[in-house]
Amino acid sequence: MTSPAFLGALCLALSCLGGAHGLWRSDDLEWSKLIMVHHWPATVCQEVESHCKDPPNYWTIHGLWPDKSEVCNRSWPFNPKEIKDLLPDMRRYWPDLLHPSNYSHQFWSHEWKKHGTCAAQLDALNSQRKYFGKSLDLFKALALTSMLQKLGIEPSTDHYYQVSDIRDALVSVYKVVPKVQCFLLEKGQEVQLLGQIELCFSKDLQLWNCSHAAEPAARRQEAWPNLGLHVCEDGPVLYPPLNETKL
Ligand SMILES: *[C@@H]1O[C@H](CO)[C@@H](O)[C@H](O)[C@H]1NC(C)=O
Ligand SMILES: *[C@@H]1O[C@H](CO)[C@@H](O)[C@H](O)[C@H]1NC(C)=O
Ligand SMILES: *[C@@H]1O[C@H](CO)[C@@H](O)[C@H](O)[C@H]1NC(C)=O
Repeated sequence: MTSPAFLGALCLALSCLGGAHGLWRSDDLEWSKLIMVHHWPATVCQEVESHCKDPPNYWTIHGLWPDKSEVCNRSWPFNPKEIKDLLPDMRRYWPDLLHPSNYSHQFWSHEWKKHGTCAAQLDALNSQRKYFGKSLDLFKALALTSMLQKLGIEPSTDHYYQVSDIRDALVSVYKVVPKVQCFLLEKGQEVQLLGQIELCFSKDLQLWNCSHAAEPAARRQEAWPNLGLHVCEDGPVLYPPLNETKL
Protein backbone atom coordinates (compact mmCIF):
# COMPACT_ATOMS: atom_id res chain seq x y z
CA MET A 1 0.00 0.00 0.00
CA THR A 2 1.21 3.42 -0.84
CA SER A 3 0.33 5.86 1.90
CA PRO A 4 -1.48 9.05 0.98
CA ALA A 5 1.25 11.10 2.58
CA PHE A 6 3.70 9.41 0.31
CA LEU A 7 1.59 10.26 -2.70
CA GLY A 8 1.58 13.86 -1.59
CA ALA A 9 5.32 13.89 -1.20
CA LEU A 10 5.67 12.24 -4.56
CA CYS A 11 3.66 14.97 -6.16
CA LEU A 12 5.87 17.58 -4.59
CA ALA A 13 9.12 15.88 -5.32
CA LEU A 14 8.44 14.70 -8.81
CA SER A 15 7.15 16.05 -11.99
CA CYS A 16 3.65 17.45 -11.53
CA LEU A 17 4.62 19.26 -14.64
CA GLY A 18 1.23 20.70 -15.30
CA GLY A 19 1.59 24.37 -15.78
CA ALA A 20 5.25 24.48 -16.55
CA HIS A 21 4.82 27.09 -19.21
CA GLY A 22 7.81 28.09 -21.14
CA LEU A 23 9.99 25.16 -20.24
CA TRP A 24 9.51 23.69 -23.65
CA ARG A 25 10.02 25.24 -26.98
CA SER A 26 7.24 25.26 -29.46
CA ASP A 27 9.11 22.82 -31.66
CA ASP A 28 8.92 20.20 -28.96
CA LEU A 29 5.59 18.71 -29.83
CA GLU A 30 5.76 15.50 -27.82
CA TRP A 31 3.18 15.29 -25.13
CA SER A 32 1.55 12.40 -23.35
CA LYS A 33 -1.04 13.78 -20.98
CA LEU A 34 -3.80 16.35 -20.92
CA ILE A 35 -4.21 18.45 -17.84
CA MET A 36 -7.59 19.83 -16.92
CA VAL A 37 -6.72 22.93 -14.93
CA HIS A 38 -9.39 24.28 -12.61
CA HIS A 39 -8.92 27.50 -10.72
CA TRP A 40 -10.68 28.94 -7.73
CA PRO A 41 -12.00 32.42 -8.57
CA ALA A 42 -11.91 33.78 -5.01
CA THR A 43 -8.19 33.04 -4.79
CA VAL A 44 -7.33 34.19 -8.28
CA CYS A 45 -9.16 37.46 -7.82
CA GLN A 46 -7.51 38.12 -4.50
CA GLU A 47 -4.02 37.32 -5.71
CA VAL A 48 -4.12 39.21 -8.91
CA GLU A 49 -5.95 42.27 -7.64
CA SER A 50 -7.38 42.62 -11.05
CA HIS A 51 -10.72 43.80 -12.15
CA CYS A 52 -12.64 40.70 -11.27
CA LYS A 53 -16.29 41.47 -11.43
CA ASP A 54 -18.80 39.21 -9.69
CA PRO A 55 -16.52 36.20 -9.94
CA PRO A 56 -18.34 32.88 -9.81
CA ASN A 57 -18.64 30.93 -6.62
CA TYR A 58 -17.55 27.66 -8.22
CA TRP A 59 -14.36 26.29 -9.70
CA THR A 60 -13.89 27.37 -13.29
CA ILE A 61 -11.71 26.21 -16.15
CA HIS A 62 -8.29 27.69 -16.66
CA GLY A 63 -7.47 25.40 -19.53
CA LEU A 64 -6.96 21.95 -20.96
CA TRP A 65 -3.26 21.64 -21.50
CA PRO A 66 -1.08 19.01 -23.13
CA ASP A 67 1.71 18.45 -20.64
CA LYS A 68 4.76 19.13 -22.75
CA SER A 69 4.09 21.29 -25.71
CA GLU A 70 2.87 24.74 -26.54
CA VAL A 71 1.93 26.82 -29.54
CA CYS A 72 1.94 23.99 -32.04
CA ASN A 73 0.37 25.82 -34.95
CA ARG A 74 0.69 29.56 -35.26
CA SER A 75 -1.36 29.67 -38.41
CA TRP A 76 -4.56 28.46 -36.80
CA PRO A 77 -6.21 31.50 -35.24
CA PHE A 78 -8.99 31.35 -32.70
CA ASN A 79 -12.37 31.85 -34.27
CA PRO A 80 -15.30 32.32 -31.89
CA LYS A 81 -17.74 31.54 -34.70
CA GLU A 82 -16.69 27.93 -34.50
CA ILE A 83 -17.84 27.62 -30.92
CA LYS A 84 -20.98 29.66 -31.15
CA ASP A 85 -23.20 26.98 -29.67
CA LEU A 86 -20.79 26.64 -26.73
CA LEU A 87 -20.70 30.29 -25.77
CA PRO A 88 -23.23 30.15 -22.91
CA ASP A 89 -21.27 27.33 -21.28
CA MET A 90 -17.96 29.00 -22.10
CA ARG A 91 -19.01 32.19 -20.35
CA ARG A 92 -20.29 30.25 -17.40
CA TYR A 93 -17.51 27.71 -16.88
CA TRP A 94 -14.50 29.23 -18.64
CA PRO A 95 -14.75 32.93 -17.83
CA ASP A 96 -11.87 35.35 -18.16
CA LEU A 97 -11.70 36.19 -14.48
CA LEU A 98 -9.05 38.83 -14.87
CA HIS A 99 -10.59 40.72 -17.76
CA PRO A 100 -14.29 40.20 -17.25
CA SER A 101 -15.31 42.94 -19.63
CA ASN A 102 -13.02 41.99 -22.46
CA TYR A 103 -15.29 40.83 -25.22
CA SER A 104 -12.51 40.04 -27.65
CA HIS A 105 -12.23 36.54 -26.17
CA GLN A 106 -8.58 37.13 -25.54
CA PHE A 107 -8.40 34.44 -22.84
CA TRP A 108 -9.93 31.72 -25.00
CA SER A 109 -7.81 32.81 -27.92
CA HIS A 110 -4.70 32.53 -25.75
CA GLU A 111 -5.68 29.08 -24.49
CA TRP A 112 -6.40 27.89 -28.02
CA LYS A 113 -3.13 29.16 -29.47
CA LYS A 114 -0.94 28.00 -26.64
CA HIS A 115 -2.59 24.69 -25.75
CA GLY A 116 -5.45 23.89 -28.11
CA THR A 117 -3.31 23.82 -31.22
CA CYS A 118 -1.19 21.11 -29.56
CA ALA A 119 -4.13 19.14 -28.17
CA ALA A 120 -5.49 19.15 -31.73
CA GLN A 121 -3.05 16.39 -32.59
CA LEU A 122 -5.74 14.08 -31.23
CA ASP A 123 -8.63 13.30 -33.53
CA ALA A 124 -10.98 13.86 -30.61
CA LEU A 125 -9.72 17.44 -30.27
CA ASN A 126 -8.74 18.43 -33.79
CA SER A 127 -10.98 21.44 -34.17
CA GLN A 128 -11.85 24.39 -31.99
CA ARG A 129 -15.37 23.08 -31.60
CA LYS A 130 -14.01 19.74 -30.43
CA TYR A 131 -11.32 21.19 -28.19
CA PHE A 132 -13.55 23.58 -26.31
CA GLY A 133 -16.54 21.23 -26.38
CA LYS A 134 -14.57 18.30 -25.00
CA SER A 135 -12.96 20.50 -22.38
CA LEU A 136 -16.39 21.54 -21.17
CA ASP A 137 -17.54 17.91 -21.19
CA LEU A 138 -14.58 16.77 -19.11
CA PHE A 139 -15.03 19.68 -16.72
CA LYS A 140 -18.70 18.85 -16.21
CA ALA A 141 -18.02 15.16 -15.79
CA LEU A 142 -15.41 15.88 -13.11
CA ALA A 143 -17.86 18.18 -11.29
CA LEU A 144 -15.07 19.36 -9.01
CA THR A 145 -17.08 21.95 -7.10
CA SER A 146 -19.80 19.56 -6.05
CA MET A 147 -17.34 16.74 -5.38
CA LEU A 148 -15.42 18.92 -2.93
CA GLN A 149 -18.66 19.93 -1.31
CA LYS A 150 -19.73 16.32 -0.91
CA LEU A 151 -16.37 15.57 0.65
CA GLY A 152 -17.01 18.30 3.20
CA ILE A 153 -14.35 20.56 1.77
CA GLU A 154 -15.96 23.97 1.60
CA PRO A 155 -14.67 27.53 1.47
CA SER A 156 -14.15 29.03 4.91
CA THR A 157 -12.19 31.84 6.51
CA ASP A 158 -11.91 30.28 9.93
CA HIS A 159 -10.87 26.80 9.03
CA TYR A 160 -7.63 25.56 7.60
CA TYR A 161 -7.50 22.32 5.70
CA GLN A 162 -4.50 20.07 5.47
CA VAL A 163 -3.20 19.88 1.93
CA SER A 164 -2.87 16.13 2.30
CA ASP A 165 -6.54 15.85 3.29
CA ILE A 166 -7.62 17.68 0.17
CA ARG A 167 -5.33 15.59 -1.99
CA ASP A 168 -6.50 12.34 -0.37
CA ALA A 169 -10.12 13.33 -0.77
CA LEU A 170 -9.60 13.94 -4.46
CA VAL A 171 -7.80 10.62 -4.86
CA SER A 172 -10.71 8.87 -3.14
CA VAL A 173 -13.14 10.29 -5.69
CA TYR A 174 -11.20 10.27 -8.92
CA LYS A 175 -8.85 7.35 -8.19
CA VAL A 176 -5.92 9.23 -9.68
CA VAL A 177 -3.30 11.56 -8.29
CA PRO A 178 -4.25 15.23 -8.78
CA LYS A 179 -2.01 18.23 -8.56
CA VAL A 180 -3.07 20.79 -5.98
CA GLN A 181 -1.61 24.26 -6.35
CA CYS A 182 -1.50 27.21 -4.00
CA PHE A 183 -0.72 30.88 -3.95
CA LEU A 184 1.24 32.28 -1.06
CA LEU A 185 -0.41 35.07 0.80
CA GLU A 186 2.48 36.98 2.27
CA LYS A 187 1.47 38.68 5.44
CA GLY A 188 4.32 38.28 7.83
CA GLN A 189 3.50 34.63 8.13
CA GLU A 190 3.07 32.56 5.07
CA VAL A 191 -0.46 31.45 4.35
CA GLN A 192 -1.24 29.20 1.44
CA LEU A 193 -4.41 29.78 -0.49
CA LEU A 194 -5.93 26.99 -2.51
CA GLY A 195 -5.62 28.18 -6.09
CA GLN A 196 -5.68 25.48 -8.75
CA ILE A 197 -6.55 21.83 -8.98
CA GLU A 198 -5.32 19.80 -11.90
CA LEU A 199 -6.66 16.45 -12.98
CA CYS A 200 -4.95 14.63 -15.80
CA PHE A 201 -6.13 12.55 -18.71
CA SER A 202 -4.42 10.10 -21.01
CA LYS A 203 -4.50 10.61 -24.76
CA ASP A 204 -7.61 8.45 -24.90
CA LEU A 205 -9.21 10.82 -22.42
CA GLN A 206 -9.21 8.52 -19.44
CA LEU A 207 -8.41 9.93 -16.03
CA TRP A 208 -4.71 9.55 -15.38
CA ASN A 209 -2.27 10.32 -12.60
CA CYS A 210 -0.84 13.80 -12.81
CA SER A 211 2.53 12.51 -11.65
CA HIS A 212 4.65 9.57 -12.58
CA ALA A 213 7.86 8.44 -10.98
CA ALA A 214 9.57 8.41 -14.36
CA GLU A 215 9.22 12.11 -14.92
CA PRO A 216 11.87 14.73 -14.26
CA ALA A 217 11.82 16.90 -11.18
CA ALA A 218 9.31 19.67 -10.90
CA ARG A 219 10.07 23.32 -10.99
CA ARG A 220 8.18 26.19 -9.54
CA GLN A 221 5.76 27.27 -12.12
CA GLU A 222 3.72 30.23 -13.03
CA ALA A 223 0.29 30.41 -14.45
CA TRP A 224 0.61 34.12 -14.72
CA PRO A 225 3.98 35.77 -14.37
CA ASN A 226 5.14 36.53 -10.84
CA LEU A 227 2.11 35.26 -9.04
CA GLY A 228 3.84 32.53 -7.12
CA LEU A 229 1.52 29.70 -7.99
CA HIS A 230 3.16 26.48 -6.89
CA VAL A 231 2.41 22.94 -5.81
CA CYS A 232 1.00 23.31 -2.29
CA GLU A 233 3.41 22.50 0.51
CA ASP A 234 2.17 19.89 2.92
CA GLY A 235 0.54 21.67 5.82
CA PRO A 236 -2.37 24.03 6.34
CA VAL A 237 -4.12 25.67 3.45
CA LEU A 238 -6.94 28.17 3.31
CA TYR A 239 -9.83 27.66 0.90
CA PRO A 240 -11.18 31.20 0.90
CA PRO A 241 -14.83 31.98 0.36
CA LEU A 242 -15.76 34.40 -2.33
CA ASN A 243 -17.25 37.22 -0.36
CA GLU A 244 -14.43 37.61 2.13
CA THR A 245 -11.50 37.62 -0.17
CA LYS A 246 -9.83 40.52 1.57
CA LEU A 247 -7.97 38.84 4.38
C1 LIG B 1 -2.12 24.55 -38.99
O1 LIG B 1 -3.46 24.99 -39.05
C2 LIG B 1 -3.90 25.26 -40.35
C3 LIG B 1 -5.31 25.83 -40.24
O2 LIG B 1 -6.17 24.91 -39.63
C4 LIG B 1 -3.86 23.99 -41.18
O3 LIG B 1 -4.28 24.26 -42.50
C5 LIG B 1 -2.44 23.44 -41.18
O4 LIG B 1 -2.43 22.20 -41.82
C6 LIG B 1 -1.94 23.26 -39.76
N1 LIG B 1 -0.55 22.91 -39.78
C7 LIG B 1 -0.09 21.85 -39.15
C8 LIG B 1 1.37 21.62 -39.21
O5 LIG B 1 -0.83 21.09 -38.54
C1 LIG C 1 -9.11 42.94 -24.70
O1 LIG C 1 -7.81 42.38 -24.71
C2 LIG C 1 -7.09 42.61 -25.90
C3 LIG C 1 -5.77 41.86 -25.80
O2 LIG C 1 -5.11 42.10 -24.61
C4 LIG C 1 -6.86 44.12 -26.02
O3 LIG C 1 -6.13 44.39 -27.20
C5 LIG C 1 -8.20 44.82 -26.06
O4 LIG C 1 -7.99 46.20 -26.10
C6 LIG C 1 -9.03 44.45 -24.83
N1 LIG C 1 -10.37 44.99 -24.99
C7 LIG C 1 -11.04 45.55 -23.97
C8 LIG C 1 -12.42 46.01 -24.25
O5 LIG C 1 -10.56 45.64 -22.84
C1 LIG D 1 -1.39 6.24 -10.05
O1 LIG D 1 -0.56 6.42 -8.94
C2 LIG D 1 -0.80 5.47 -7.91
C3 LIG D 1 0.06 5.86 -6.74
O2 LIG D 1 1.35 6.22 -7.13
C4 LIG D 1 -0.48 4.08 -8.41
O3 LIG D 1 -0.76 3.15 -7.41
C5 LIG D 1 -1.35 3.81 -9.64
O4 LIG D 1 -1.00 2.57 -10.19
C6 LIG D 1 -1.16 4.90 -10.67
N1 LIG D 1 -2.10 4.68 -11.75
C7 LIG D 1 -1.73 4.75 -13.04
C8 LIG D 1 -2.82 4.55 -14.03
O5 LIG D 1 -0.58 4.97 -13.36
